[in-house]
Amino acid sequence: MSFKKDFMWGAATASYQVEGAAKEDGRGLSVWDVFCEKQGKIKDKSNGDIACDQYHRYEEDIELMAKMGLKAYRFSLSWSRILPEGTGKVNEKGIEYYSNLIDCLLAHGIEPFVTLYHWDLPYTLHKRGGWLNEESPEWFAEYAKIAAEYFSDRVKYFFTFNEPQCFVGLGYLSDIHAPGINGPDRDAFTAAHHVLKAHGKAVQVLREYGKQPLKIGFAPAGKYTYPKTAAPKDVEAAKKMMFDNIALEDWVWSVAWWSDPIFLGKYPEAVCEKYKDILPAFTQEDMDLIHQPIDFVGQNIYDGRMVACGDDGEPYFVPDYIGAPYTTINSPVTPEILYWMPKFLYERYGKPVIITESGMANVDIVSADGQVHDGSRIAYLESYLQNLCKAADEVPIDGYFLWSLLDNFEWAHGYQGRFGLIYVDFRTQKRIPKDSAKWYQTVIATNGGCLHR
Ligand code: NOJ
Repeated sequence: MSFKKDFMWGAATASYQVEGAAKEDGRGLSVWDVFCEKQGKIKDKSNGDIACDQYHRYEEDIELMAKMGLKAYRFSLSWSRILPEGTGKVNEKGIEYYSNLIDCLLAHGIEPFVTLYHWDLPYTLHKRGGWLNEESPEWFAEYAKIAAEYFSDRVKYFFTFNEPQCFVGLGYLSDIHAPGINGPDRDAFTAAHHVLKAHGKAVQVLREYGKQPLKIGFAPAGKYTYPKTAAPKDVEAAKKMMFDNIALEDWVWSVAWWSDPIFLGKYPEAVCEKYKDILPAFTQEDMDLIHQPIDFVGQNIYDGRMVACGDDGEPYFVPDYIGAPYTTINSPVTPEILYWMPKFLYERYGKPVIITESGMANVDIVSADGQVHDGSRIAYLESYLQNLCKAADEVPIDGYFLWSLLDNFEWAHGYQGRFGLIYVDFRTQKRIPKDSAKWYQTVIATNGGCLHR
């Protein structure tokens, strides 16, 4: 069992979760700045104003990444730092920040992976209707063009959107995330369609204005399943549950609703039939735009549910065993998902897979020796990566981005769900690489060899 020679071992973050400097150097407001001010939305009443202060500390962070031997760093651009009004005038200071960040990464031999949109829509665009506005794909294309013009001489890898499931599902269908709209499915379908069109336009623009041949993808989420056994009937049941049943019952959280149009050029028919009275009109031109060729299947994968085939031939969810482990933000610990999902994704979409996020929220405590001994995170990561390694023998897998480089602002959970390889003391901004960072360093140095024992 092994990973390919040039496997991309990385870690990931997102602008609003780590940058801070929210009111500096001309950055415009994003929907998250405004959302965090609303009463009761963020568990510890915090926000991303300072976060990990990466805006001022990126050099220190990159030193730590280099020590760990990271091959790649996935981060997102803050749209409102680059275009404070969302469109129009470019903020040179914003460009300068990302340019310096990219240069510093490259100087340390770390490949930058840029996500254009990790949920922080410029607030001015939200006031114009946000993703519900039919002009939104054009706004996004304008922003993507700027990213291509300024950064694609040095950045080869771009992702358009991070987890559209989440920002549409939690932001437009329920008010758990920004912009905090508790709207009907009809509107969420419209927002989702605009997002997919925006993705297509951004791919076109990146290809047209890219200063070198670019590798482009997106980084969706989803509700995932894995089979109880490797028997063909359980495997088929897990696939049916994931691509058909979940899409029908919970379209916004499905893989199929978002990835089928991008990779296969069509929305899942059964879902279209179910919602035919409320769907926006999809023209063939829209579908062609969405179906731009991209280079890999990115997927953020944290957990899944076990499925088996019932006596009636239908898939069912296998209940948890008593005492099954859950992380501190309540995700089940299901390492098998990193074996099965890459296989399912490759089989359906036919592109090399990149795990764009995976990781564990934990209660991390600084010990008396000043270190953070996060043994349970190591156990978690080890079991997940062993599964990924097994999958890598069967399907092409190009990289893995651990979430997250640093403890950071975990959206509605505030700072309570610590995901980092590096502990951050938010009172002082002191960084302490956890035991898991040292362990990950060995994983990278041995290209996963140390996982076999
Ligand atoms: C997915 C999101 O992309 C990221 O922003 C979030 O912090 C992690 N999952 C952990 O919940």
